[in-house]
Amino acid sequence: MRRRIVLVGFGNVGREFARLLLERRSELARAFGLDASVVGILTARHGSVENPRGIDLRKALRLADAGVSLESCGRGISRLAPEYIRQARADIVIELTPLRIGPRQVAVEHGLAALHTGKHLITANKGPVVYHYRRLRELARRNRVGFRYEGTVLDGAPVFNLFQEALRGARIESFEGILNSTTNLILSEMEAGRTYADGVEAARRIGFLETDPSMDLDGWDSTVKACLVANVLMGGRLRPERVPRQGVSSIPADAVRTAGAEGKRVKQVARGWREGRTVRASVSIKAIGPDHPLFAVNGTSSSLVVRTDMLKEFQIIERDPALRQTAFAVYSDLIAIHEGRLSP
Ligand SMILES: NC(=O)c1ccc[n+]([C@@H]2O[C@H](COP(=O)([O-])OP(=O)(O)OC[C@H]3O[C@@H](n4cnc5c(N)ncnc54)[C@H](OP(=O)(O)O)[C@@H]3O)[C@@H](O)[C@H]2O)c1
Repeated sequence: MRRRIVLVGFGNVGREFARLLLERRSELARAFGLDASVVGILTARHGSVENPRGIDLRKALRLADAGVSLESCGRGISRLAPEYIRQARADIVIELTPLRIGPRQVAVEHGLAALHTGKHLITANKGPVVYHYRRLRELARRNRVGFRYEGTVLDGAPVFNLFQEALRGARIESFEGILNSTTNLILSEMEAGRTYADGVEAARRIGFLETDPSMDLDGWDSTVKACLVANVLMGGRLRPERVPRQGVSSIPADAVRTAGAEGKRVKQVARGWREGRTVRASVSIKAIGPDHPLFAVNGTSSSLVVRTDMLKEFQIIERDPALRQTAFAVYSDLIAIHEGRLSP
């Protein structure tokens, strides 16, 4: 079955997803009966194009990797993105624009445009989900279309799929996690004797630094992810701006060395817990000892330790993810929607 896809955003994740589609095209057809055809690509400054017969992804990747406009890949789109999405002859919209903080989100306009017009929505963008989860979920439900967002936390490792599908009925009491790969990489680099600036550069080189670096360095990304887990899986109503937050940019230069001398490691720990009927969260930088479950989570690895009423404590660890892991989250969401599993 042919599924016509619009990609909103063709940066690190959008391009890696396109590579994955090219590599797995025959497997998608054989194993899932899915012919995934990208009919529109929208960007901010690199052109927006459509081709109802399917955009040549190899060509689009060549142009985008060279930093050149996509114009020659199809018919140019001059309308604003939400308007285009509403009118597009497409089945699935994949939203991959940068994270922004605040309830006014251009990404949510993209998502609403898709869901209002009966198109499935997949996103790896945390912004629309953390601020507008209930609204998007209700709209998707009402219009009987898919809304999936597995790539928003721990990239391709299952978090939402795990709890909302495999562990239905289990109640999360609290969680602790290392949720931002960039921060963890910087801290590991500093532990190895390199500077904070070296760590930032290392993250930039591998495509991990958010478009706006302060999202990672000032702790926003971790805070948004903590709120996502709290709001989606624990029924919280948290706004990232109101959650106590500490970013790696705020730590004193010798903090990592001092902790090391005591056999500890400095980590950015995101937490969520219940206080009566209220769900709370925080993100702080602290030194943890070898007995802590997050002590061995280093480099770009990330992890979530969850305490539930059914399975007590268990831990998800994602070792050294790269862009492929996030692209896989989008890819697995696509397969799920194609198979009729509309929401996690
Ligand atoms: N990178 C990761 O490892 C990772 C992991 C998990 C989740 N995510 C999330 O995935 C999303 C994408 O990340 P990324 O690393 O791919 O970002 P990126 O490399 O900065 O790419 C963002 C893309 O969005 C386009 N864009 C920006 N504003 C737009 C608008 N208003 N309309 C249409 N297109 C627009 C940009 O266009 P131009 O090319 O013209 O600038 C670019 O193509 C983010 O929300 C991020 O938080 C990323």
